[in-house]
Order: sequence, then C-alpha cells, then structure tokens
Amino acid sequence: MKIGVIGGGQLGRMLALAGTPLGMGFVFLDPAPDACAAALGEHIRADYSDQDHLRQLADEVDLVTFEFESVPAETVAFLSQFVPVFPSAEALRIARDRWFEKSMFQDLGIPTPEFADIQSQADLEAAVARIGLPAVMKTRTLGYDGKGQKVLRSQSDVEGAFAELGSVPCILEGFVSFAGEVSLIAVRARSGETRFYPLVHNTHESGILRLSIASTDHPLQALAEDYVSRVLTKLDYVGVMAFEFFEVDGGLKANEIAPRVHNSGHWTIEGSESSQFENHLRAVAGLPLGSTAKVGESAMLNFIGEVPVVERVLHVQDCHLHHYGKAFKAGRKVGHATLRCNDAATLKARIADVEALIKV
Ligand SMILES: Nc1ncnc2c1ncn2[C@@H]1O[C@H](COP(=O)(O)OP(=O)(O)O)[C@@H](O)[C@H]1O
Ligand SMILES: [Mg+2]
Repeated sequence: MKIGVIGGGQLGRMLALAGTPLGMGFVFLDPAPDACAAALGEHIRADYSDQDHLRQLADEVDLVTFEFESVPAETVAFLSQFVPVFPSAEALRIARDRWFEKSMFQDLGIPTPEFADIQSQADLEAAVARIGLPAVMKTRTLGYDGKGQKVLRSQSDVEGAFAELGSVPCILEGFVSFAGEVSLIAVRARSGETRFYPLVHNTHESGILRLSIASTDHPLQALAEDYVSRVLTKLDYVGVMAFEFFEVDGGLKANEIAPRVHNSGHWTIEGSESSQFENHLRAVAGLPLGSTAKVGESAMLNFIGEVPVVERVLHVQDCHLHHYGKAFKAGRKVGHATLRCNDAATLKARIADVEALIKV
C-alpha cells in the first residue's frame, strides 16, 4: 500500500519508519529541499497549493494523510476528489483554527479557558475588559511550538498587541494557572473502534515541549477519554488525534487538539505495544488497530537546537536515540531520546542523565 503524506518532517519520517515493516511505501509532498522524511520515501518537492503536483501525488498513492494541520483547506478539498484523505477536511478545518476548536469544545461541554475572537485592537481591549489579565493572545491559525502567541500581563502589554501578532485574526484566552499539562493520544479506526494511550505529563519551556512522561493509572484518565471521545465521535474522526489539557483543581481544561501524530506520543515507539505512528497508519489504512498498552515506564526528552554527541547519548542506559537528520538551528526540534525502564525511580535517574547532556 502506498501512503501519501502532506509534509516531510520528522513526523512523516517516523510514520515511514513504522509503516515500512507493514509493507507500506511512502510519498511525501513538501516544498523544503531538505525535508528529513525524504530519506524514507519518494519526495515530491512542491508547494501545498501546487495542483499539478497534488494530482501527481493522488495518482501515485492509495490514500493521503498529514503530518501537520496548517494545510490549506483547498489542498484537502482538491486531493479528496481523487483519493481518500484521512483525517477528514472537516477535522483539519476545526483543528487548524483555535476559534473553531475552542467553540467546538464549548459546544460539546468540554471545559476550556475563557476565550474571545479578536479581529482588531478594539476587540482586544473589549476582551481584556471581560476576561481580565493575565491572558494569552494567540493567532487563530498557523501557531506552533509557542509561536504566534503572547502573554499579556499588564495594560502596557495590551497596547499594540494586535499589530505585534501581525494584525491577523486572533483569540484571547484567560491565563490558566495549571497544576500540570497532560495530553491524551487516541486512535480511531474507520469502523469507529477507538483506543487510548495512557495520559502523558508534559513540560514545556518557552512554549516548546521539553519532557513527556507516560503516566500509570492516572486519576484523570477516564475523564480525558470521555472528553476526547466526544470530539472523535463529533468529527467521525479517523487516525491518531492528540488532545492537550491543563490540569486545574483536580479536573481538566482543554487547550488544543492536533489531528495527527504528536510529539508527546513519541515515547510510544519503545514504550507501548504499538506506537502512535503504527496505529495512525493502521487506522487510515482500514487495518485492525494495535494494542496501546504501555510496556514499562517511559519518558521522552526533546533535543531542541542540537542533538548532543551521539556516543554520549548512547552511553545512557535504557536510552533510545532518534536523530531526525535535520540541520541544527536554535528553537528547532532536531531529535529526541526515549527512556524505557522497569520502574519509576530508575526512569527519573535516567532522565537526569540525559538532561545533563543537554546542558553541556
Ligand atoms: N491559556 C493559557 N494559560 C496558560 N498557559 C498557556 C495557555 N495557553 C498556552 N499556554 C502555554 O503555552 C504552551 C503552548 O501553547 P499552545 O496553545 O499549546 O500552542 P502550540 O500550538 O504552540 O502548542 C502550552 O503548552 C502552555 O504551556
Ligand atoms: Mg500545544
């Protein structure tokens, strides 16, 4: 089976690493000459709106999926004429726009921070008067890794903030003093069968994910599964979805969804029976889902900007290195390490071992 992937970054690369043993081949469409997934499949180097090349992709593959959600809606609509596309155009339309996303949470009774649509500086002033400060202003579309957002702490931060974020449609959210951040990775098959991985604790630095630790018997697992199920059913979703939550007062507030495999699920490659990448491919291809059961205790540390010396990483016991083969650049995710051990105390020690390498 040939799988077309829109985007050729590390998520596409890890999809291909999971799908190749299942007999799948991969074609990536990405304008970047150095797309790191290209090492594992064919690379159509073209713009996401280039209809000739989209047509070529559709002709070559059995189905198309995505490794990022900021794909133009017209791209999905165009491809859908010729080839099955999962997740659906509707799932992408919602997930790529924070206003649609939070409105959907609200409609489904899923708690989310207070929010307001911002189309002008005047809208912002009115929203600040209602929601209060501190608050977080985010562009409705195209934000990732904390980009396209600004924390507003005082009135002076509010002045000119609409122009600062590019005078594009934004939302304002109430600032959440969360006890922690967790994410739930779910997979839904074409048949509607749904499976969940255990909740993951996430730590961000400057808006970028740094550390994920898979939980065991998390008290909020059932609640998170209930909230995510509502969204999956509503969208008649097919594939892997990641759902980010804030932990507040013993409950959950929904932050955002990603209609794709997700950084906080990378630990599943070594830490679960079937990884998020394999399960995404099984789902979109109409194959039976694999077990999402956790194997031992797992954590994932991102390498941001650069990968430490490979030999040093491999010296750490229970450590699995994933080097994406991307050029090193400040703030860019260029690799990760997964630590998998039999007990939580050992896991903690191993995390410290890898963190020590990052600081060097
Ligand atoms: N309303 C909020 N209150 C407090 N912190 C927030 C809020 N929104 C985002 N953050 C912080 O910023 C991080 C990135 O924001 P997020 O909305 O998830 O955007 P991105 O698409 O860049 O991941 C979050 O993981 C969280 O740590
Ligand atoms: Mg996020």
